[in-house]
Order: sequence, then C-alpha cells, then structure tokens
Amino acid sequence: MDAKIIDGKAIAAQIREEVRRDVELLKMRGKNVTLAVVLVGDDPASAVYVRNKKRACETTGITSLSYELPADTTEDKLLALIGKLNRREDVDGILVQMPLPPQIDEHHVICAIDPVKDVDGFHPTNVGLLATGKPGLVSCTPAGVMELLKRTGVELSGKEAVVIGRSNIVGKPMAQLLLRENATVTIAHSRTADLASVVRRADVVVAAVGRPRMITPDYIKEGAVVIDVGINRIAETGKLCGDVDFDAVLPHCRAITPVPGGVGPMTIAMLMRNCYEAASQRRK
Ligand code: GUN
Repeated sequence: MDAKIIDGKAIAAQIREEVRRDVELLKMRGKNVTLAVVLVGDDPASAVYVRNKKRACETTGITSLSYELPADTTEDKLLALIGKLNRREDVDGILVQMPLPPQIDEHHVICAIDPVKDVDGFHPTNVGLLATGKPGLVSCTPAGVMELLKRTGVELSGKEAVVIGRSNIVGKPMAQLLLRENATVTIAHSRTADLASVVRRADVVVAAVGRPRMITPDYIKEGAVVIDVGINRIAETGKLCGDVDFDAVLPHCRAITPVPGGVGPMTIAMLMRNCYEAASQRRK
C-alpha cells in the first residue's frame, strides 16, 4: 500500500495564514488580538515552547504579553496575576505554561483562568462544553489532530477510532472530538489488556502514550490512518521520535503523520486560532 505521509508543517502553515488574515480583519474593525503568556520557573523545555508560541504570535499579528516569574513564586501570587489578566479588557487569551513548580496546584491555576480567555481549553467549563457538544475553546493538540484528519479527507463517521492515552490534555478531549464526528471511539491506555488487539480494530489510531516507537506493525490494521502525538527524545542520539515505529508502520497504513513535522506544528497553529476565536467571541 502506498501510504500518504501527512505534512503537518504545511497544513499548520496554511492554518496560521488563515488566522493571520482573520486577525488582520479584526484589527481593521478596531480589535487587536492579545495573548498573555505566563512562564513560572526555568524549565528549559518550557522556555522553548513559550518562545515558539510568542514567535507564532508575531507572525500571526497577535500581540503577546510575556510574564516570566521565578521558580519560587507562590500560588497566591500566580493566582493574583491571573485575576489581573482576567480583568484586563485588552487581554483575549491567557496561557500558563505547564508543568508548574510543585508548590503550585495546576488545577487551581486552570480553574482561575476566565473560561472565555482559556486558549488552552483546559478549564472544566470548556471541557464540559466539549463533552456536551457545545461550542467552546478546545485543547490545541487534539484540535490540531482533527484539522489534520479533516484536511486529509479522512472519513470518521461510523469508523472505529482508538485513542491510546487518557490524559486531560490529549487523550480525553481527542476521544470527545472523534465521538462528535460519529466515530466509534475506544480509549486505550497503559493498563489496557492486550493493547495490540484493541488497536488492531482501529480505522483511525491516535497514539499519545509517550513511549518511543511502541506502536509496531502488529498493532496496525492494514489500511489504517495513524496519527502520532508522541514527542520523545532518544537519549543516545538526541533525535526526536514518535510513539509509532514510523518506518515499520508506514507500508501498512493509508496515511500517517511523521515526528517531527506531523502533529507538533499543529498545536501552535491551533493555539493561534483559539486566540483569534477568544478575541472574536469577546468582541460580540
Ligand atoms: N505544557 C505542555 N503542553 C502544554 C500546553 O498545551 N499548554 C500549556 N499551557 N502547557 C503545556
């Protein structure tokens, strides 16, 4: 089978260009789009993510405000900053980069963000809106996976979809989004008995486990669509790889995302779109 390699970088660039135009139109009507990015501590990976998000804002015409707080910041101090950003008329989106230092409860922080400014889609209100099929802000990575599937022309209605991973950020919202498109959805995870036989049922596989190259051809039904959310760094080489053994699985599937260059670039593109959506909703 000739598998199609899904070009996430190209699709993400397309979305960012669409958002750039939408942001420009909003600006012409007198509304500037602003994202506040909060980073606590000096985790090097988080610093890279935050830098990339701010850079994406620049190229999309979104104003980014940067708040860098020391690692020993108290929860009260962070909650006070969020309260201030919630009340600011000019701030449309608030993003607090995770993980947070141990003295800060992430759940308290997520719940403190005004749901209409919650561009990560982590607030229980937005999670509940997604679960009840109502419009709201959706977690960026699963939203990006849906865009990839949509723009690749993957049919979901009536199909078997298996999501591997049950995190609040990816697995659970991913399952809700697939369900909304009328797929028959299974959430598998590290405790699933005979994982390979469960995943082999899938017409669409979304792997979000965080285990390098765990998904080998014996997990894949011939002709399945395989979406790899994993970003793992191989210690010996420093190279990135996904949860899927790409080279081995490629000949068996209809379409597959590479790592890097698959889902990764979509996350930031969808964050930009969420910022635009938040601004445009608040303006109404
Ligand atoms: N840390 C890892 N992924 C994310 C994300 O999508 N949003 C935030 N805020 N922090 C993260």
